[in-house]
Amino acid sequence: MKKFINTMIVTAAIVIGSTGADARNGVEIEHLGTNNTLVRVTADGGKYLILPVQESNDEATVNIIVDGKLDRTISVCLAKSKVDYTVPLNLEKYAGKNVVLNITTTQSRSSVREAKDDACWNNILVSDTFDTSNREKFRPAYHHTPLYGWMNDPNGMFYKDGVWHLAFQWNPYGSRWQNLSWGQSTSRDLIHWETQPDAIIQPDGLGMIFSGSSAIDKTNSAGFGEDAVVAMYTSAAASQIQSLAWSNDGGYTYNVYAGNPVLTLESEARDPNMFWNLDTKEWILILAHALDHEMLIFTSPDMKKWTLQSSFGKGLGAQDGVWECPDLFELAVDGTDEKKWVLLCNLNPGGIFGGSATQYFIGDFDGKTFTPDLDRNGRVPTKWLDYGKDHYATVSFSDAPDSRRTVIGWMSNWQYAPEVPTMQYRSANTLPREMGIFRDSDGQLYVSSKPSPEIDAIRDRIFKSVSNVNVGKNERKYAIPEICEILMTIDPAKSDSVNISLSNDAGEHVDMTYNVEAGRLSFDRRESGIVDFSQDFPAVTATPTHSADGKINLRIFIDRSSIEVFEADGRFVMTNLVFPNTPYSSLSLSAYGGKAKISNLKIYTINVQ
Ligand code: FRU
Repeated sequence: MKKFINTMIVTAAIVIGSTGADARNGVEIEHLGTNNTLVRVTADGGKYLILPVQESNDEATVNIIVDGKLDRTISVCLAKSKVDYTVPLNLEKYAGKNVVLNITTTQSRSSVREAKDDACWNNILVSDTFDTSNREKFRPAYHHTPLYGWMNDPNGMFYKDGVWHLAFQWNPYGSRWQNLSWGQSTSRDLIHWETQPDAIIQPDGLGMIFSGSSAIDKTNSAGFGEDAVVAMYTSAAASQIQSLAWSNDGGYTYNVYAGNPVLTLESEARDPNMFWNLDTKEWILILAHALDHEMLIFTSPDMKKWTLQSSFGKGLGAQDGVWECPDLFELAVDGTDEKKWVLLCNLNPGGIFGGSATQYFIGDFDGKTFTPDLDRNGRVPTKWLDYGKDHYATVSFSDAPDSRRTVIGWMSNWQYAPEVPTMQYRSANTLPREMGIFRDSDGQLYVSSKPSPEIDAIRDRIFKSVSNVNVGKNERKYAIPEICEILMTIDPAKSDSVNISLSNDAGEHVDMTYNVEAGRLSFDRRESGIVDFSQDFPAVTATPTHSADGKINLRIFIDRSSIEVFEADGRFVMTNLVFPNTPYSSLSLSAYGGKAKISNLKIYTINVQ
């Protein structure tokens, strides 16, 4: 991951202003009352105003005033008693102008004197650099994370000219949900991500920038230019309305459409996902009618005028919580010419293991209406894309090459995402995954998720390889590297259950148990390390294994604070976060009720240099 700056240089001398204002570090501070302070930027040409944050503190409202006009307002937990970390406000675009921050806090104070003692006033400064080097032991090595600040859903993902663009819900001014804009990282190999230092779409008069999608307008239907990348997102303020922005430089900088919003409803709707329908030659938009637990389907010739065609989902699938972040795409059924449509429907709460999760429906789409397949009881089955707790807001890249349907999810859960034990940044994405459809022995179609083929390149060397090992009650133990991929073929043979345990010297462990008769693989993280930041974190998740003969092939990816367990053909995946105090260093295998055979075990080190 490219660091855009590595060291922090403190400039400017301490000067006491004649007006009683306190001037230092390139700013002049004037306290106007117990809850109101002006910060004038005095250093000429500094790149960043470094804002000190204390996460537990109330949010201050920071009005950024440029040459006397309100440019925008951000909310920041400015530090009171201690500085947890700092965030940068980019001043470059204000070069040569007068910048004043009018800051209002909500804390109760008895005097201005008390307000003056706040840690933020001594630590706020103008600097030419901002340090993004990693200071977190849980930051993954080969999963995408923001350089700093809060991240939730992946947004507006597309592929163009050899580059994968991954935008994301981003708060650049703190590691909790607030100030939502679209950050963006790009990659040529889905492994190494380069993050743009500034948000590509910033909150504006219509509100914060919530989730949405991007598509390439090959026919210039919207009039933004041939091959313009057009982003559609939810502008969220008192209401949620849908807006457009476009890029003529391949998706690095965006112009906000002056005619926004392009779609309004009388009720909460968000996360527009649009694509060009090759059959009907028009744009299709699928929009989450969040509180109504349904997805709305619209069509348009130009992305600006939308006509409602149908709705899908009332009373179907998991209905708790709100429906969010839809996606709709066509896939071939493995090994056949049959084509089916998949509708991804993220919901929160109400996920299979509590909190947020991604369910999906398989069916047909005629350009206007999605019709779900029924199971043999004539019902619409509820199906889950991932059987872990930490997989949400999954959507696909548009315009991916070779008819690929590549998705990325947010690797967290709304139940505890703001509480996880990291600070400099919060949240990572799942590994990119390829979607497919397979028919199982029960006659039904299911969506498969395999790690994208690019991910094979992170394998470095074989750390351990064994084959045809019988395991019983006595554990067989193997050392594992801190970050690794483990490949394993389990033949349960005469056993009832097979246990795969990851542990460290601190006695913390994750236990995966394959229950042969039930055909289920469970994942127990109740004693996996730091679990007490939320009562919802210590949990057991379990997945059906879809194995016809009882044997299962696993690919397990460990990356400091995440474990993704894939069936090698993608027939299931289970994604869970873990926060071990020291890295897991052992893999133990055992079997109960008889001996099992580990036909194959390979442990790979990972190299992402
Ligand atoms: C899903 C979600 C979306 C919304 C975004 C706001 O996680 O709630 O529905 O657009 O997050 O950050």
